[in-house]
Amino acid sequence: MKTQVAIIGAGPSGLLLGQLLHKAGIDNVIIERQSPDYVLGRIRAGVLEQGMVDLLREAGVSARMEREGLVHDGFELAFDNRLERIDLRGLTGGKTVMVYGQTEVTRDLMEARVASGAPSFYNASDVELHELKGGQPYVTFTHKGQRVRLDCQQIAGCDGFHGVSRQSIPDGVLKEFERVYPFGWLGVLADTPPVHDELIYANHERGFALCSMRSPTRTRYYVQVSSEEKVEDWSDERFWDELKRRLPAQTAAKLITGPSIEKSIAPLRSFVVEPMQYGHLFLVGDAAHIVPPTGAKGLNLAASDVSTLYRILLKVHRDGRTELLEKYSEICLRRIWKAERFSWWMTSMLHRFPDTDAFSQRMQQTELDYFVGSEAGRRTIAENYVGLPYEAVE
Ligand code: APR
Ligand code: PHB
Repeated sequence: MKTQVAIIGAGPSGLLLGQLLHKAGIDNVIIERQSPDYVLGRIRAGVLEQGMVDLLREAGVSARMEREGLVHDGFELAFDNRLERIDLRGLTGGKTVMVYGQTEVTRDLMEARVASGAPSFYNASDVELHELKGGQPYVTFTHKGQRVRLDCQQIAGCDGFHGVSRQSIPDGVLKEFERVYPFGWLGVLADTPPVHDELIYANHERGFALCSMRSPTRTRYYVQVSSEEKVEDWSDERFWDELKRRLPAQTAAKLITGPSIEKSIAPLRSFVVEPMQYGHLFLVGDAAHIVPPTGAKGLNLAASDVSTLYRILLKVHRDGRTELLEKYSEICLRRIWKAERFSWWMTSMLHRFPDTDAFSQRMQQTELDYFVGSEAGRRTIAENYVGLPYEAVE
């Protein structure tokens, strides 16, 4: 089999890239290890930057998001038993974010893929990448008991943090940067009305908490837990009690609880590889970088990588501008490092770190107090939260 671009992974990165390329008339094939239902069963992020919203529109998959997504003009920081609003719209000259679950984005993209008739192979095993530095790369995989060979011109490694793409690059080529945080987030999804009409990021002496939502009737809440915690030890009741204790009293009093639909613990990590490409292979999204979720940047960084690779591939396949391929990694990494910084900083400012001394404690409180009390500080938070601009591909 033959195509122009082989895409490994049908998460948001792979599906969005596939859709954009297909619309532009560039052939592509998606190869995914799991089934569609498995991919849709993962509960992930829920805040889209304007840049990602615009890209979904360009891909022609925004109709349901326009109807059901919630435009948020601001969010709240909670500390010292009070709420402090970050007015995103006011502080950024009109920019906002869209609250719409990654699961829904994925569902919309999967439906568009089926409607387009472009080929996808789900439940593909033993995916292997070949001739990454050679004249013509190809991918092999097993599908329905048959070994398949897919010849292509470029390979987009959209297969997440644990995927095969990054691992296919020889040892010694990539430089890895990593920080593992000594805690995780315990998340609960519930069919309850949100406690507040905007997201609340809470710093509390018992640990961080986040009040998020998926719709006016569905909430997503998180509490920071130690890395050793087991989800089995968290009954719904224990979760709601802990969440309430970490919110300002007037907010906690309004919290409506209910049975959880999903409950899981996610570790927190910062991770980047440089460069994000090797020969004909281009790493996209979680395959190349991870951020802790505190800045709501993971999914949005995947979208900015997709935008960059798409615009490069368009010029390569339409105009023969193959020299642009060399620029992919450097263009992506400039924006990625800034989002890594913001996510690390928000994480540092809002979480309780084990073994923090009294001085560091005061520094954390003062940092929050200073940033929130200063117009410049609030603007810094707002401009990063709505998302830094995408770099043009010239
Ligand atoms: N072969 C084929 N597919 C694979 C392989 C493999 N060897 N390994 C992993 N995959 C698939 C996974 O099953 C998954 O569906 O690749 C997909 C990767 O999807 P994600 O992990 O969602 O990564 P990505 O598409 O880059 O999404 C961006 O940013 O911060 C996050 O929550 C956010 O998941 C989101 C991500
Ligand atoms: C979520 O709704 O799951 C969510 C929202 C904001 C974040 C992280 C996760 O920063």
